[in-house]
Amino acid sequence: MPALDLVGGLLGQAQHVTVEGQRLLVVVDGHHKPQLLYTAHVCGNDHWVRQIPTGVYGSAQAAGYAFDRPPVHQHQVARFAVRGRVLDVGCGAGLSAAALHGHAEVVVGLEPNAGMLAYRRQVAPHAHFVVGRAEQLPFADAAFDMITAAGSLNYVDLDLFFAEARRVLRPGGVVVVYDFWPGPWYEIFERRYPSAPGYALDIEALRPRRYERFDVTVSMDHEASLRFMLTECAGADPGWLSEQLATLGPDFVFHSYLAEIVP
Ligand SMILES: C[S@@+](CC[C@H](N)C(=O)[O-])C[C@H]1O[C@@H](n2cnc3c(N)ncnc32)[C@H](O)[C@@H]1O
Repeated sequence: MPALDLVGGLLGQAQHVTVEGQRLLVVVDGHHKPQLLYTAHVCGNDHWVRQIPTGVYGSAQAAGYAFDRPPVHQHQVARFAVRGRVLDVGCGAGLSAAALHGHAEVVVGLEPNAGMLAYRRQVAPHAHFVVGRAEQLPFADAAFDMITAAGSLNYVDLDLFFAEARRVLRPGGVVVVYDFWPGPWYEIFERRYPSAPGYALDIEALRPRRYERFDVTVSMDHEASLRFMLTECAGADPGWLSEQLATLGPDFVFHSYLAEIVP
C-alpha cells in the first residue's frame, strides 16, 4: 500500500483505508460518524486525490481553498449584475462569497461541512455563513434575490437544488453558475490526473438564459501556481508539476464560464 502521508497530508484523519483495484478508499471521521470522504487513485507508486466522491470537502482542503487559490472569482462576479441578498451555494472556504462583497447588500455562504469554513473570518469578513446543503436550503421562502454557485453544482442533486432555488428566491431571482480552470496546459494535467467520472457539469442541459465562456489572466509566480495546483489535486507529484509550470511564465490563463439560469 502506498505511504499515506504522501497524499498531501490529506489522509491525516484517516481511520480506515482499503485498496480496491486502482482506488484507495479512505474513511475519515466526519463530525459525528465515520463517512467515506476521499477516493484516491493509485497507479503504481503514484497516488493522488482529485474530486471527492461525496462532494463534501473537509478541513483538509480548508487552508488550500482559503489561501492558495488565485484571485479569479472577482473577474467573474464583475460580469454579472449582483443585487440584493445573495446566497453563495457551496462557498468552500469563502472565496466565492468574498468576491460578492461590495456588489451585494447581504452575502450568505452555504457549505455542508463546517471544517471547510475554518478561515471564513479572514477570507470573507463581511459575509454570513451557514452549514447546509444545496438540496435542502435552510432558509425561508423568498429569502434571496440571487444565488451563486462557483464550482459547486458538480456535486449537487440538481433537481432537488433547483426546486429549493425556486422556493428561496424572490420572483425574478436568478441562479448564476460559474467556474474556472487553468488552460490550455490543463489538458496535460488532466491526462495525468483525470477528473472523477461524472464530475463534469452539463451547463447547456440547465437551459441558461445566458452562457458565456471567456479567459481570465492572472499573474502568479511559480510557487503560487504550484500551491494552487496542489489544491486541485492533493498528492500530485510536485516535481512534475513544477517542471510543467516552469514552462508557463507568470501570466496564468484561466478558462472560465458563467451561466445565468432562471430556476
Ligand atoms: C470546488 S469547491 C468550490 C468552493 C468555492 N465556491 C470556491 O469557489 O472557492 C466545491 C464546494 O462545494 C461544496 N459542496 C459539495 N456538495 C455540496 C452540496 N450538496 N451542497 C452545497 N455545497 C456542496 C464542497 O464542500 C466544496 O466546498
